[in-house]
Amino acid sequence: MARILITSALPYINGIKHLGNLAGSMLPADVWARFKRGQGHEVLYICATDEHGTPAELAAAAAGQDVRTYCDEQHQIQKAAGEAFGLSYDWFGRSSNAPNRRLTQHFAKVLEDNGLIEERVDQMIYSIDDGRFLPDRYVEGTCPHCGYEKARGDQCDNCGRLLDPTDLKEPYSAVSGSRNLEVRDTRHLYLLQTKLEQRIRDWIGTKSDWQTLARSIALKHLDEGLIDRGITRDLKWGVPVVGPDGGPRPGMEGKVFYVWFDAPIEYIGATEEWAEATGHSWRDWWRTDEGADDVRYVQFMGKDNVAFHTVSFPATILGSGEPWKTVDTLKAFNWLNWYGGKFSTSQGRGVFMDQALELLPADYWRWYLTAYGPEHSDSAFTWEQFQSATNKDLADVLGNFVNRIVKFTESKFDGVVPEGGALTDVERDFQTRITQAVAEATAAFEAMEFRKAAQAVRAAWVLGNEYLQVAAPWTAFKTDPERAATAVRFALNLVALFARLAAPILPFSAPQIAASVGETDLGWPSPDAAWLEAVPAGRAVAHQGVLFTKIEDAQVAEWAARFGGEG
Ligand code: 2FM
Ligand code: ZN
Repeated sequence: MARILITSALPYINGIKHLGNLAGSMLPADVWARFKRGQGHEVLYICATDEHGTPAELAAAAAGQDVRTYCDEQHQIQKAAGEAFGLSYDWFGRSSNAPNRRLTQHFAKVLEDNGLIEERVDQMIYSIDDGRFLPDRYVEGTCPHCGYEKARGDQCDNCGRLLDPTDLKEPYSAVSGSRNLEVRDTRHLYLLQTKLEQRIRDWIGTKSDWQTLARSIALKHLDEGLIDRGITRDLKWGVPVVGPDGGPRPGMEGKVFYVWFDAPIEYIGATEEWAEATGHSWRDWWRTDEGADDVRYVQFMGKDNVAFHTVSFPATILGSGEPWKTVDTLKAFNWLNWYGGKFSTSQGRGVFMDQALELLPADYWRWYLTAYGPEHSDSAFTWEQFQSATNKDLADVLGNFVNRIVKFTESKFDGVVPEGGALTDVERDFQTRITQAVAEATAAFEAMEFRKAAQAVRAAWVLGNEYLQVAAPWTAFKTDPERAATAVRFALNLVALFARLAAPILPFSAPQIAASVGETDLGWPSPDAAWLEAVPAGRAVAHQGVLFTKIEDAQVAEWAARFGGEG
C-alpha cells in the first residue's frame, strides 16, 4: 500500500468556477484519488481556496464587500459546490488561514537567511486617480509579446507568458480604467531565482514521471532565462511581510507577499489545517526527514499553472534548503473552450459549477468532462457533444445494460440470482475480452490517461451489451431455462464489475448500480476473473430506478439559448 499525496491547483476565491476549471484540475484529481483509494492505497487529497492577491480584492470590490467577508462567503460556496460534484477532498482549506501565514513567513525568512532574498527599490505603476499602486491584475494593457489587448499585469491570457506590469503597452487601471498612470519607486523583496536556475534544472532532471506537457513548459521557462522575482506587493490583503522579530518589517510596513508566493505554500498549509482538525500529522506527508520520503506526491493543474509549479514554487522549496517533499508526478491539462471561444463570466458564456447541477446530476458532467476532456489538446464544450456522451455512453450503454438484466431477473427469476449451469465458451470469450478491457483501464488510469481510461471502461460496458445480445437469455428462457440462468448470473456479475469500473468517474451512480445486485464493494477490480464470483446465487437483486435520463433536443436548444451556445 502506497501513501499518495494529491493536490489540485487551488481555485481562486473570486466566484464559483466554470466547467473548464473543474475539468482541468479538480475533477481529474478527484477521479484519480478515487481510483487510487479503490486500489487500497492511502490517499490524501488536498485542495483549498486561493484567497489572496488582486483577484480577491477586485472581486470583493465589485461585490461591494470587504475582502474578508467576501472570502468567507465564497469559500463556503466553493466548498459546497465541490462537495455537490463529489470532489472527495480530504481537506478543502483556505490560503488566508493561519498555517499558510506562518509557513509563508517561514519560507521568506529561511530564503533570506540563505541569501536568496534581497530588498530592492523598484519601479511600479502608480495610478494617480486611484491613489494607489497597481500591481499584477490591477493593471491591464497590450501584451508586448503577442499584442493581445486585454493582457493582465501578471500574465497574458492569450500567449501564456508571465508579465511584469511595466511590460504592458498602453496600460490602464483595472479598477477605474484610468490611463493617468506614472511609474514610482517602491521597496520590495526579490527572490533571486537567477541563483537557483541550475538547481531547478538539476531537480527537473531527477523527475522521470512528469507528463510531456508539464516538462516542456518547465524547460521552456528555464530556457527563456529566469529573472529575480518580486515576491511582495503594495496591497492590504495577504500574508503580511514581517521583520526578523515577527513584527512589521521596517520600510515595508503594510505590504504583503505576492499571491503566487503564498498560494502553493497553502498545499502544505491546508495539510496542516487537515492535521489539526483530524488529529493527524502533516509533517509525515511533507517533510522527508519525518516520514514523507515514501510519499508519492502528484499535482494536477491547468497548463497556465505549470510554470509556477515547476519553477517558482520549486525555487521556494529548494531555496529553503530544508527537506520538503517535492512533486513526483505532475499532470497538466489544456483548455476546455466554450464552442470556439473561451468561457467568460462577464459575457455570460459557459456553464458554472452551480448552474451545471441545476440542469443535471454531477455524474453526467463528470463523465463528459473526463471522457472528452481537454487532456492532450484543447477541447471544446458543445451541448451536442455533451448530449451524445450522456445519451450514448451513459444511457444507452451503461444504464441500458444494468436496467435490462436486473429487470429481467425480477420478472423471470423472482428477483433472485439463479444458480445456472457451467459457463460456456461464449462466457469464456467475453470474460477474456472484458478482463482485457479492465487491464487497459487500469493501465490508462495508472498512466493518468483519463480519456483512454474512460474509453476502456466504456469498452467493458459495450461488451456487456454485446454479451446480452449473443447469449439472449430472454430467448433461451423459453427453451432452456438453465442456459438462461447461466447467462443471467454471468451478466449480474458484470453489473457488479461495471459499478466498480464506474466508481472513480461516477461516484453517485456506482453505488446505485452495485446496490441493484446487492453489492457494496466499489474497490477497483484487479484484472483477473475474480469478479466472476462476486454475486452469488440466491441473492436478491432489485432495480434501483432510472440511472441516466437521455437529454432531449429541446433541452439542448433551451440550454444553448440560456447559456450561449453558438461560438
Ligand atoms: O490559476 C489559478 O487558478 C490559481 N489560483 C492556482 C493556484 S495553484 C497553487 F499554487 F496555489
Ligand atoms: Zn501575450
